[in-house]
Amino acid sequence: MLNKKIFVGIFLFSVLLSNSQTTKTEINEIVKEWASPTKFPDHVVLSATEDPSRSVGVNWRTEASNEIGYVELAVAGPGPYFKKNSKKYKAERTVVDSEQAYKDGFKASYFEVQIDQLAPNTLYAYRVGNYHFKSEWHHFKTANNQPTPISFLYVGDAQNYILELWSRVIRNAYKTAPNADFFIHAGDLVDDGHEEIDWNEWFAAGSFIHSEIPAIAVPGNHEYRYLDGSLFSQNEVLSVQWNAQFGFPKNGPKGLEKTCYYVDYPDLKIIALNSNIDIKRQAKWLKDVLKSNDKKWVVVTYHHPVFSASTGRDNSELRLLWQPIFEEYNVDLALQGHDHTYARGAIYEKPIVVKNDVKNQNIIGPVYVVSVSGGKMYSVNKTGWDEFGATQGKTGERIQLFQHISIDGDRLIYRSFTATGELFDRFGILKQNGKNKYFD
Ligand SMILES: [Fe+2]
Repeated sequence: MLNKKIFVGIFLFSVLLSNSQTTKTEINEIVKEWASPTKFPDHVVLSATEDPSRSVGVNWRTEASNEIGYVELAVAGPGPYFKKNSKKYKAERTVVDSEQAYKDGFKASYFEVQIDQLAPNTLYAYRVGNYHFKSEWHHFKTANNQPTPISFLYVGDAQNYILELWSRVIRNAYKTAPNADFFIHAGDLVDDGHEEIDWNEWFAAGSFIHSEIPAIAVPGNHEYRYLDGSLFSQNEVLSVQWNAQFGFPKNGPKGLEKTCYYVDYPDLKIIALNSNIDIKRQAKWLKDVLKSNDKKWVVVTYHHPVFSASTGRDNSELRLLWQPIFEEYNVDLALQGHDHTYARGAIYEKPIVVKNDVKNQNIIGPVYVVSVSGGKMYSVNKTGWDEFGATQGKTGERIQLFQHISIDGDRLIYRSFTATGELFDRFGILKQNGKNKYFD
């Protein structure tokens, strides 16, 4: 169904481009029609939960008149008969009217199921829908409940030219790591967080990748917009779709559920933070979470960088409140977005005398990364991070990127790839004698 919609959308765009008689209003109506929900489920997305070895979040969308939705789930099998053993899970329905926030919005039913009591390290098949209208069967694998090698993908802002240019990035990311355990989206997934057309582009670009690799996403500033479309009339609020269309954990501070949370793999804790609001309250929560952490590796992700990579975009309050906690509790990796450019660096135990001579140096706190995956680009601030005591290892600009990170025992390997699949950046972290040692 989705593919048909994409085809119709692209076809209509082409027809309209060649027909100068078509008015802007008509074009807007046709694009809106393209992004509209139907009786068929679409926007099917898996979300990581607190314990991905035992549970998963499933969300999808239909037109508002659909009142009932459920997930059918079975252990996947090679023949078509696996579905005979499927079990039904009734979904919770939320009706969102995005018109309240954006002129080209509409009412839609959003369905959510958190499936619990799954078996670890097991390939499942699921489909969503109701009696008449269902999705295809999708596969996903639950995490292992014992320490085991793990890998994941990470992208910075998709945000602009999503269908046009982000599609190739997420699809190449999938080709590079089709068995990735999860997919981190570090904020600004879309340009206008309330706009259904933007979200439809995000779902069309990712297609079944969203339905088969659990997402871990945080909101960026573009997921916080004014409700009535007018500027400066009221406080910006979280995307009206966010809580209804994602099934992220609700284990964060009250009021920040699904935007600030943690996900636990046997050897790895992922902490998703909301860098838009309440950052002081999150600092206290973060400290408590890290104080009781028993995982070997800790990765944090949030939108606004602690060390900015482009000019005039400093986030000094975040640096003041979060950086000392990252260092006190030995966070390993900070995955960020927002600056529409690429920079990667860290603070080293010994001052770096010769530029880039960081081999075998001990790292204090996380390796910080800023990256971008969509089509909007800014320039790199050439002054680097020296004023913060951090050394940049690699920078880049005007390149769409995705990252693949693998963890195996005491080693983490990080690789960044361009949209065309070339290796762009690489480093490793080795845990040795209670310290993190950089290698490349
Ligand atoms: Fe941003």
